[in-house]
Amino acid sequence: MTTLKWWQTAVFYQIYPRSFADGSGDGVGDFKGILSRLDYLADLGVDALWLSPHFPSPNWDWGYDISDYQNVAPEYGTLDDFKTFLSESHKRGLRVILDLVLNHTSDQHPWFLESKSSRDHPKSDWYVWKDSLTPTPLPILGEGQRVRLPPNNWQSCFDGDAWTYVPERNQYYYHYFMKQQPDLNWRNPEVKAAMWDAVRFWLDLGVDGFRLDAIGTIFEDPNLTPHPVPMNLAELRRAHELAKTPAEKEQVEKYWHDMFMHQIEQPGVHEMMKELRTVLDEYDGDRMLIGENEYIDYLGDGEDELNLVFNFPLMRTERLTPDFIRRNQKERLTQLEALPVKGWACNTLGNHDSPRVHSRYGDGIHDAELARLSLALMLTLKGTPFLYNGEEIGMTDYIITDPTKLRDTMAIWYYDQLVNELEVDPTEAALRAGQMSRDKNRTPMQWNNAPNGGFCPADVEPWLPVNPNYSKGVNVEDQSANPASLLNDYKCLLRVRKSTPALVEGEYIPLHDASQDYFAFLRKSASQMILVVLNFSDKRLELDFSDNQEIKGKTIHALFSSDERVLANENLRQLAIGAYEVFIAEVK
Ligand code: GLC
Repeated sequence: MTTLKWWQTAVFYQIYPRSFADGSGDGVGDFKGILSRLDYLADLGVDALWLSPHFPSPNWDWGYDISDYQNVAPEYGTLDDFKTFLSESHKRGLRVILDLVLNHTSDQHPWFLESKSSRDHPKSDWYVWKDSLTPTPLPILGEGQRVRLPPNNWQSCFDGDAWTYVPERNQYYYHYFMKQQPDLNWRNPEVKAAMWDAVRFWLDLGVDGFRLDAIGTIFEDPNLTPHPVPMNLAELRRAHELAKTPAEKEQVEKYWHDMFMHQIEQPGVHEMMKELRTVLDEYDGDRMLIGENEYIDYLGDGEDELNLVFNFPLMRTERLTPDFIRRNQKERLTQLEALPVKGWACNTLGNHDSPRVHSRYGDGIHDAELARLSLALMLTLKGTPFLYNGEEIGMTDYIITDPTKLRDTMAIWYYDQLVNELEVDPTEAALRAGQMSRDKNRTPMQWNNAPNGGFCPADVEPWLPVNPNYSKGVNVEDQSANPASLLNDYKCLLRVRKSTPALVEGEYIPLHDASQDYFAFLRKSASQMILVVLNFSDKRLELDFSDNQEIKGKTIHALFSSDERVLANENLRQLAIGAYEVFIAEVK
């Protein structure tokens, strides 16, 4: 195992700073709060932390609209607090990677304020500025009145038109995300130099790497080719909600693809990633890059671009079935192995943008059992796992149905569009907006059974409501005291993973390929072989693995079970597996 890099053996844990722990008592998470929970994280058994943006931001997109790349948001603390957090994390053996937003800045970033001030400003070309499509005055309009149209019909994936007009320049700027998030012009070498300075600033402080935000959106088609979809973003979202038949759903999917096809994954981005990699490689300590992207091409030849990309296709399902997982693994691992220097897998099922694992992959009846299986899957599949804060206690989505309480700007915008443009009944609009809002999976971490789940003081209103299920056992303190809790299983699984090299470095060998009820596989390294069985059904199973060449004639010794099972030798001809059981054994 010694030849692997730290980011290959590590289990990553994503902290969403605003919702993790409030140390100052103002209802907003902060570094003081995180610091007070580092022992919890170390004890949990994770190895690395990914911190969602902690930089100063007007918070239209809760930190993903950065107004200063070299500082700390005042609501989270000071740069000194950050340094303390970093050194205290390192002391506990926890690596730290930061979120790096390259595609855009905040519209309040000094770079943008300067760029928008005039076409003659030295930074005038730092963002993507274009003229109106029809600069010619129409004769029927009076003198000085012009029809102004955006440069093309591109949409922002968050809030309608991708172009916003600025009178100072009599031009439009482009924004793939909200209008408060103008896209940087990465074709300008000065932009690169300025951003690499910011990267070096954090590397100099000792951070271990970066999660690169939205890299697929960095370049757009220079010809500004219009999209062919006969509707705008709000209409498409609505069509998506209303699509019922397979044909309708397929049509909507095609529209989603076509609407943004000229705005994402355009040439130029790989050269840029290579350049960023050379910046990281100036530093010692195997600093790493992971892209918020699923495409294997971002790994370059396996050594010259990013270290990891996420296996997002695994998340693209309503239900994690054995069949779906097997197909995903086959495709993914084959692609990774085809690189000149083999790529390393990276799996995740949840983050601050997606519904909570417990809610998303549940069936409404066995949600808790399925959540346990999902987490076990993350910790046993080949590749680096990324976990999202709260997953370990089974936090669930909390849908806000009062639109005045929404905090996710894109949901607020959508509610407004539904009611005012699409004439949808306000009650239905509120529900739709609440469902699509990312607020539901960003509610504060639930630490105990005190008011506000122990996230902030009882008499303070947290920035997002705490999910009331904190009082029903979904909190850290109660689950720590309960040996049968998800949290304790999770901890136990993390320990098993750490002490079982094959679970980290072993090859993945699927077993019983046709099984619909359970997903069984081996992880095989030079020195060890592990059998994993995840029963996704409510049936008790009796399985026979004796026909498999790899394990024929061997004995199996249980290392972990989510059932009450004595961990002992088991019969590989008649292995009894309980309903929804997670079973891990060593094959000797
Ligand atoms: C990424 C982030 C998301 C953010 C967007 C714009 O997808 O994960 O939260 O809103 O980029 O920065």
